[in-house]
Amino acid sequence: MTETTPSAAWQALIDHRRALRRSSLAGLFAADPQRFTRLSLVWDDWLSDWSKQRLTPATMALLVAYARARNLPAWIEALFGGEKINVTEQRAALHTALRQQGDTPVLQDGSDVLPAIRATQARMRTLAAQLRGGVRLGATGRPIRDIVHIGIGGSDLGPRLVCSALTGPRASRREGIEVTFVSNVDPEQLTRALAGLDPATTLFIVTSKTFTTMETLRNATSAREWLATQLGGGGALAAHFIAVTGNAAAARAFGVAGADVLPMWDWVGGRFSLWSAAGLAIAVRCGWESFAELLAGAATMDAHFRDAPLPRNLPVLLALVDFWNAQAPSANQRVVVPYAHALSRLPSYLQQLVLESNGKSVTRDGSPVDQPTAPGLWGEPGTDSQHAFFQWLHQGTHAVPVEFVVPVRAAHPLADQQTLLVANALAQAQALFAGKPLAVVRAELAASGMDPAAIDLNAPHRVCPGNRPSTTLLLPELNARRLGPLLALYEHRTFVEGVLAGINSFDQWGVELGKALAGSLQAALRDGTEPGPADQSTLGLLAHARALSRRG
Ligand code: F6P
Repeated sequence: MTETTPSAAWQALIDHRRALRRSSLAGLFAADPQRFTRLSLVWDDWLSDWSKQRLTPATMALLVAYARARNLPAWIEALFGGEKINVTEQRAALHTALRQQGDTPVLQDGSDVLPAIRATQARMRTLAAQLRGGVRLGATGRPIRDIVHIGIGGSDLGPRLVCSALTGPRASRREGIEVTFVSNVDPEQLTRALAGLDPATTLFIVTSKTFTTMETLRNATSAREWLATQLGGGGALAAHFIAVTGNAAAARAFGVAGADVLPMWDWVGGRFSLWSAAGLAIAVRCGWESFAELLAGAATMDAHFRDAPLPRNLPVLLALVDFWNAQAPSANQRVVVPYAHALSRLPSYLQQLVLESNGKSVTRDGSPVDQPTAPGLWGEPGTDSQHAFFQWLHQGTHAVPVEFVVPVRAAHPLADQQTLLVANALAQAQALFAGKPLAVVRAELAASGMDPAAIDLNAPHRVCPGNRPSTTLLLPELNARRLGPLLALYEHRTFVEGVLAGINSFDQWGVELGKALAGSLQAALRDGTEPGPADQSTLGLLAHARALSRRG
């Protein structure tokens, strides 16, 4: 499939952007009474509205044509069909097989991956039941009460997001088992996690596809030492470890019992792995039924993505909007604001999913990309963020696209407070769009009795320019059944954005360089050895850090 930008479809988009340049969002709404209906989509009982984006139905048609010119339907089939679309590592990206509901064979290198998936799910189900039921015992014969999940990147962010999203007010601490996540090599995180835990009743799930990741191995080693100081070393400690990895030999060498090593397959990318045994912590914390619901929900989005025509396909349409925004001259950022405390971890999860996938500068065949790829992505939950960066969104000099993710109903009994939350999400999108013009500000100040000189001084500070783009995603509520499709939606959308840019979304070579340099700098810091060749600034920082650590 071609890697070069399809020139006719691309040129049509460039011409169209030029034609739209002077249009305001208000003008676009005024020109089309059907605009909301034409630039929104109901999927299941969700509503996704991108009518407040700076584009028109004609833009969407041109974008769909561009996607076709990029062979998007064939790429979607290649994804589901297990083709080795991760070309630099010669791997498939078969995360969809992990949540497939039936047993239709999914072939990888000529064999069906479903039997291994089902066997692993059965093992996860048993382990979750044993841990939740207090049947799994530690080395001293006491039941396990606390889990510490050790992993980083894709081996942390997805399971952590899901656990925090689904551990709602109805999950009583007494009923289940507590799960704490440790990812950072900063020893502060592990120390805090272990404070107050009893080694005799604590189990560690070490999750690492490679089992070579520095942060995970250091934390797992420190955890083993912590256990050994109170339980004694040796084989008994195996009762306190489960490993999830593609490198079973290394996990066994670390001291995990063979039966407690669950697989990660090379046809699932790390940042797409929460649906695999990497999600064991979810099954333990929330119960196997919730995990199964998560998978079943994601499968509904998979079916939609695979089958819906491009102009009615939610992940495709939202990716086209992202792609359109990313090509705008000043658009190098994207803000995601979940109006749900339960989704507090969504922005960090998306940072890895989107930026590790699409933060690339070369196309699949290695030639430089000729268009911007993924803009930076950040966000925080609403309404907290309204009291932090929304000032910048409303009156700053950058018009950055914002995405509001809003579960409408809540499981808790504070229904009126929930209404306030949802109203705030809608209000912010409206305010970004409509703004507050000078004439309105002046009239309000005059009506308040302010004198004309004070009005002249104050009015400009109160003007909100508006005309700022946003997308709003309304979903009925947040539970495992709804969270599954939400995450699958973002996965597929990220994949489509990669296809539109002609890049491989499934490798991450950029993170390797810093890892290699950290090794030689650690030796230089700890042992005073010469670092490898380094610039003046790095050498200066190293010398000062050495001096500070000697003083401590
Ligand atoms: O950040 C780089 C990365 O390779 C991610 O892609 C991956 O999710 C993470 O490190 C952890 O890797 P592993 O699961 O092998 O420990």
